[in-house]
Amino acid sequence: MARICITDAIPEASAEKLRATNHEVSIWDGAEPPTRSELLELVAGADAVLTVLSDGVDEEFLDAAGPQLRIVANVAVGYNNIDLAACRARGVVVTNTPGVLFDATADIAFGLLLAVTRRLGEGERLIRSGRPWRYRTTFMLGRSIEGKTIGLIGAGQIGTAMARRCRAFGMAIAYAEEHPMREPAASELAATGMPLDELVAGCDVISLHCPLTAETHHILNAERMAAMRPGSYVINTARGACIDEQALAEALASGHLGGAGLDVYEDEPRVNPALLELENVVLLPHLGSANIETRTAMCDLAAENALAVLAGRPAPSAV
Ligand code: GLV
Ligand code: GLV
Repeated sequence: MARICITDAIPEASAEKLRATNHEVSIWDGAEPPTRSELLELVAGADAVLTVLSDGVDEEFLDAAGPQLRIVANVAVGYNNIDLAACRARGVVVTNTPGVLFDATADIAFGLLLAVTRRLGEGERLIRSGRPWRYRTTFMLGRSIEGKTIGLIGAGQIGTAMARRCRAFGMAIAYAEEHPMREPAASELAATGMPLDELVAGCDVISLHCPLTAETHHILNAERMAAMRPGSYVINTARGACIDEQALAEALASGHLGGAGLDVYEDEPRVNPALLELENVVLLPHLGSANIETRTAMCDLAAENALAVLAGRPAPSAV
């Protein structure tokens, strides 16, 4: 019998599957996420931990868990919260949840794209404000996405799923060749690869779908934003720190960029106050994979990873 520790509430169906094993399962049940010290206490003595993206898995975490720890199963496709080298040095397997959340995340990215180009957030706020409005020929006009080009920074499963949605709405697809799209998707979508600097300068929308790494930190920086087409849009469902958020706020406030749709923030859950001031920004609270089916599939996959490693089998989705 091993001890499996889960640092956040998970869908009941996933919890049941773990409880049906002969392992001891402890699930964080606080109304708020654990504080750092509560987290370190919770994982003490665990053989397997299911973590979420706000849990920093570093030397301190691994020390707190103890030398018996065998796997950290992140309930997320991104794993920038985990010190991989530290885990590797201790023989701790790290897994993520690829292949189950790309459609859900692309739905949110595409939803943000429509919301920002067609001013859905702004319109909703206007109605709820009680301020008067009338249908007028030139009232609250947005921009069409049909015939425009979307530029993907990151064209893995999520970026490709976003491209499929954009293609269905009549957009042309381009991607940064530093983070290329696979075949046959690239051919099916008539997607054009180009160097990142050319991409940012030549598209109507830039959408981020890359993991956060040292290379992609602020990959969309002030200089690249300045090179973007006037009136173009930014969509981010990847990680906040892939964009220089302060520079983004300035490029939006100055009117250089047409708008932004954001699901992630540099210092989550804090949102840069400058962004809150802007009408042409749609802000979501990290909902990319947040539907019941997807979260259940993510938790089930994380649980399968934990159970496999505890049974001495290879993890289905080791990073
Ligand atoms: C969510 O942001 C994830 O990485 O799964
Ligand atoms: C998602 O699963 C991706 O890697 O894009």
